Parts: sequence; C-alpha cells; structure tokens
Amino acid sequence: MTRESVVLVAAGAGERLGAAASGPKALVTVAGTTLLELALRGLRDAGVRDIVVVHTPGHARAFADVARRHAVTRLVPGGETRTASVRAGLDEVELATEVVAVHDAARALTPATVIRAVLDAVRGDVVAVAPALAVPDTLKRVVAGEVVATVDRSDLQAVHTPQAFVPDVLREALAGADDATDDLGLVERAIAEGRVQGRIALVAGSPRDLKITYPEDLDLVASLLAADRLGPAP
Ligand code: CTP
Ligand code: MG
Repeated sequence: MTRESVVLVAAGAGERLGAAASGPKALVTVAGTTLLELALRGLRDAGVRDIVVVHTPGHARAFADVARRHAVTRLVPGGETRTASVRAGLDEVELATEVVAVHDAARALTPATVIRAVLDAVRGDVVAVAPALAVPDTLKRVVAGEVVATVDRSDLQAVHTPQAFVPDVLREALAGADDATDDLGLVERAIAEGRVQGRIALVAGSPRDLKITYPEDLDLVASLLAADRLGPAP
C-alpha cells in the first residue's frame, strides 16, 4: 500500500469571515461542528490515516481537543502565510511518505471521492495532482470598475485542494517561494525552470469543495449539511 499523508492547513485567521469568526476560522462551528472536524471527517472517509494538522499559534489547546477525537497524527503551529504553514506541515511528514496531499481546512465539505481520486492519481510520471472544475460563469476582465474584456473561458478551470504530490517535488517547489494560494502553481514553475521532472494531472473536482471564505459561505455549508441529513430525495 502506498504510504500517504495529508497536511491539513488550518492556521489562517479567517479575517474575511469577519464577525462570524470570533476565533480561528477552522474552529468556527456550523450546526454544532467545527470546520476542522468536518474536514477531518472527509479525510477519514477517504481512508487517510496519517494527518498533520497545522494550527493557529496560540490556539494549540483548542485544536488538540478536536484532534484527540480524530485520527490526527501530529499537530504543528502554522506560520504567517499559507505557504509558511504548508512548509511547517511538510516538515512533519515522515521521510518514507510516498504521496503527500495539502488540503485547506477551509474546504470542509470536500467529498471523500475527490480526496481519494487526487491521492491515487500520483503515480508514474505524474508528480502533482489537483481537483478542478470548468468555470460555468461568463468571465469579464474589470479594471477600476470598467469592463475591459470578456475572457474566453473555454480553456479555463477552477482549481481546488486537496493537491497531492511526490513529497520531494513539493519540497523543491516550495524552496524559495513566497506566499501562494496554490501549491500546484509552484510545481508548475519548478517544472518550467527544470528543477523538477514530471507531469501535472487534474482530476474531476466537486462544487462541494468550496473554500469557505465569507460569512454567507457558512449559510451554504449549513444548508448542504441539512440536506445531507434529510438524505437523497425519494
Ligand atoms: N492558512 C494557514 N496559514 C496561514 C494562512 C492560511 O494554514 N498563515 C490556511 C487556512 O487555515 C485555510 C487555507 O490556508 O485552511 C486557505 O486560506 P484562507 O481560505 O485564506 O483562510 P484564512 O487565511 O483563514 O482566511 P482570511 O484570508 O480571510 O484571513
Ligand atoms: Mg487567507
């Protein structure tokens, strides 16, 4: 069996959640459950057994309380930027790990099928994988409030997490990187610069893999969870 680990970055403050977040975003509750727990459930349902949670410094105890109830292997404090947090998590991953995925705790409803598909797609010359979805909306380029162009969306995809990597590829890609919202982009750069060999692949993403960012996203998550409890329509 492939030795796989997931680094769940959960150290962000959640500033855009505003008043909805009186503490770190990962500890915000929806219908009585923290976003961190929801994210951990998805990983468990996908059969992930080794999870490193990168937590908000200063909130170690609250994160540890949640971690204790889940299959969290290690807890490590995060950094000032998402990329610093990814690095801190990756440093905790065992050297024998063959596939490492980086996932945002802010994507609390990622289906287990997406997580599994991403992890399984790292093989052969595929060294980095992400879930992606076609963009259904018309896209406009807007500069200073003025529409300057309609962007052809036929070759555009929205990319989510988890993103899975050959660990050494991610380490090399992170070397010298500033902050990035997308680790796959760092691998793209490393391949273009000849620092890394291999191919990138995308797998089918899901609208449930939304990144909880604004207060209204919490309402959406609450409705999706309520619909789940009702079960599929007869
Ligand atoms: N993240 C992190 N360390 C940071 C910043 C972000 O681990 N220094 C994590 C967040 O916890 C989140 C993911 O990266 O799971 C994506 O970040 P984002 O959605 O921007 O979350 P926040 O940074 O918490 O939100 P905001 O930008 O509104 O403050
Ligand atoms: Mg952020």
